[in-house]
Amino acid sequence: MSDDTTISLPPRIGDKAPEFSARSTTGDVRLSDYRGQWLVLFSHPADFTPVCSTEFVALARASGEFAKRDCALMGLSVDTLFSHFAWLHMIKERFGVEVRFPIIEDPTMVIASAYGMTSADDADSWSVRNTYFIDPEGTIRAITCYPANVGRSVPEMLRLLDALQAADAKSGLAPADWQPGDKLLRQPGATLDEVFAAKEPGDWFMQEQG
Ligand code: BEZ
Repeated sequence: MSDDTTISLPPRIGDKAPEFSARSTTGDVRLSDYRGQWLVLFSHPADFTPVCSTEFVALARASGEFAKRDCALMGLSVDTLFSHFAWLHMIKERFGVEVRFPIIEDPTMVIASAYGMTSADDADSWSVRNTYFIDPEGTIRAITCYPANVGRSVPEMLRLLDALQAADAKSGLAPADWQPGDKLLRQPGATLDEVFAAKEPGDWFMQEQG
């Protein structure tokens, strides 16, 4: 084997989200069209599967909550546009829910590969349940990865989005189990003077914001 093989690593938190354009259930979409707002881009293994159907129903029902946070939703799988249409029609018939956010077709997996949405263990060419929280500048701010047999939690997706937005707005840190309305933590002090001036032990690195 030659040693000039290029291995492209999937993007990580802090990287710019790889640009793409694709056909979707709402027309042609480009990632760069979403600059200026938040975007939750998520992959699902396949159309017409039970867990994925529950995720789409839950996300469509919560789409107003994402919109309130100036955040668009965008799904993606390897299935074709016509498969997506047929599945969304079935979801509407069975659950009475219209999925109005775009779902991309990625039959060649060019987008899934660029984002690392594929699982090395999968015998099938499915994308796993990856979710990318992309900020208004196009930077990936959080990534989650769930297996095919466990659906994502929409309340946790909203909580993560709220935490990212609150931490940005107040230059703070969201502690474990933070919920909107809870206090954020201060950025830890970074000088010895701050360490020695702390009134309580550990105050220099761990304090709530006022
Ligand atoms: C599901 O969404 O239910 C599913 C997807 C892929 C494999 C198994 C289940």
